[in-house]
Amino acid sequence: HRHLLGIEALSPADIVAVLDRSERYAGAPDPDWRTRLSGRTQINMFFENSTRTQASFEIAGQRLGANVMNMAMQASSIKKGETLIDTALTLNAMHPDLLVVRHPNSGAVALLSQKVNCAVINAGDGRHEHPTQALLDALTIRRRKGRLQRLTVAICGDIAHSRVARSNIILLGKMENRVRLVGPKTLMPAGIERFGVEVVHDMAEGLRDADVVMMLRLQRERMDGGFIPSEREYFHRFGLDAARLANAKDDAIVMHPGPMNRGVEIDGELADDLTRSAIQEQVEMGVAVRMAVLELLSRRAA
Ligand code: CP
Repeated sequence: HRHLLGIEALSPADIVAVLDRSERYAGAPDPDWRTRLSGRTQINMFFENSTRTQASFEIAGQRLGANVMNMAMQASSIKKGETLIDTALTLNAMHPDLLVVRHPNSGAVALLSQKVNCAVINAGDGRHEHPTQALLDALTIRRRKGRLQRLTVAICGDIAHSRVARSNIILLGKMENRVRLVGPKTLMPAGIERFGVEVVHDMAEGLRDADVVMMLRLQRERMDGGFIPSEREYFHRFGLDAARLANAKDDAIVMHPGPMNRGVEIDGELADDLTRSAIQEQVEMGVAVRMAVLELLSRRAA
């Protein structure tokens, strides 16, 4: 079976193919779509909280006519000590076509994919990858900027804990964009330069000439006892507001994968300014991209 475990395994042509197909699903829902995955079973297994990813995978499957089941992992036998792999094997025995999995451990989704005989989609694994997020970000950028090459993209904030940053760094690099990581040294992963990115610790410098400013959530839940900045201090040095955005290009767009901490990494008024902020469009494109991915991966071998 083919899976979507990360951007790492995709070629530039694969990325463009997913985005082109997503574009067909970007408008208002069409009743004709409802037969495309009829008879298919999609199971969503979220071992970590989610609003956007879980809801959009569910809506995407429903719009294509799949039978979508959301496993309530909090109510499952995981609570009785059943392992991830035994849980996956149990669900696999019910013959699903697609498993959508989010897990707090990096690599857990790849491991699971080796044990089942259906397509597996990584909906975010630890700090590793969140491939559909990078694809929906790429689609949003392509729509707003008219291209997905030769752009300067500043990815700002808590890079160290972010699977969104990692998937975006890989995707934007494959598409030949200039990627600049901006944030405190303590939130920058060691050796990240090997991905061909620039690393900057000052926002004004990092935003210079940027076409896209991508803000990240400060992930306190992944900071086990280490550096936890105060919110006021963090916003003062690394938060984005209209004044700071003036360092970027005049037509730079603002992105955030959500969930946002208003007043911590991003000013609420700027996040709501639809002339600059693409945040709602990111959510909208999330459904389109997930429809395309579900459709592409559910093609059965002849
Ligand atoms: N962007 C994102 O993955 O959001 P959720 O955690 O709400 O799914």
